Amino acid sequence: MTGGGRGLGRAVAWRLAAEGASVVVADLNAEDLEHTVAGSPVEGAVRAVVADCARADGIQSVLDACAALGGVADALVNNAAVLSGGLVTEVTEDEIERVLRVNTMGPMLATTAFAGRLVAAGAPGSVVSIASTTAHIASLPALSTYAASKGAVLAYTRAAAVDLARYGIRINAVSPGWIRTDMTSNLGDERDAPLLRRIPMRRPADPSEVAAAVAWLLSDDSAYVTGTSVAVDGGWLAY
Ligand SMILES: NC(=O)c1ccc[n+]([C@@H]2O[C@H](COP(=O)([O-])OP(=O)(O)OC[C@H]3O[C@@H](n4cnc5c(N)ncnc54)[C@H](O)[C@@H]3O)[C@@H](O)[C@H]2O)c1
Repeated sequence: MTGGGRGLGRAVAWRLAAEGASVVVADLNAEDLEHTVAGSPVEGAVRAVVADCARADGIQSVLDACAALGGVADALVNNAAVLSGGLVTEVTEDEIERVLRVNTMGPMLATTAFAGRLVAAGAPGSVVSIASTTAHIASLPALSTYAASKGAVLAYTRAAAVDLARYGIRINAVSPGWIRTDMTSNLGDERDAPLLRRIPMRRPADPSEVAAAVAWLLSDDSAYVTGTSVAVDGGWLAY
């Protein structure tokens, strides 16, 4: 699990731990990781690794930590991402590079490394990448860089599913709409009302509601599902 220090990543870690999984959470922020570990519903089920999940060596250190638990990791959640605001006319080269590195290259590098180890072991597995409604519709102004980074995640999910199916490895995406987390807490109240009008259920998601979809896609209950995305958005994309 990348980006497991807070927000949705933390909720997914706790959900999987409650279902009996051994979970390795990786994040840049050691202090946040401590809270994820300490709050696990099952003591000892969640372990933390401080790692940059946008870099291949960081990803390898996370997979090494999984291997140290005995056996190869059988599930990967590509959750780490950064939000980026700014009009098309304002965005800088550095910002585009930063966002694509974390939000798009990170999941691609992690999936390649994860699948490589599974193929070598002859074992099946499942990947879930967290996309966004911004991968499907513009959603909000001034989010073009972020939207592009998430759109690429969906395209990658479809194409990678084709390559990985022969090895018994599934890959899907979840597209949340608005989740109440630290990532969105600074959007400001003035954005809340217009946003809520576009969401038929008239509320943001609790992180646990998105975690439930991730858990389903990782489980054998979705054994015939690959290369697709599940929107968890209170009806936003339907409206
Ligand atoms: N919050 C929302 O409304 C919303 C909506 C749609 C999609 N999403 C997506 O859901 C996922 C989780 O979002 P969130 O709201 O929990 O965000 P968040 O900002 O609260 O948490 C993201 C976590 O990722 C970590 N992270 C960032 N870069 C990293 C890196 N290079 N290596 C390791 N860890 C790194 C951060 O330290 C942080 O702990 C993201 O992919 C986000 O794009 C969120």
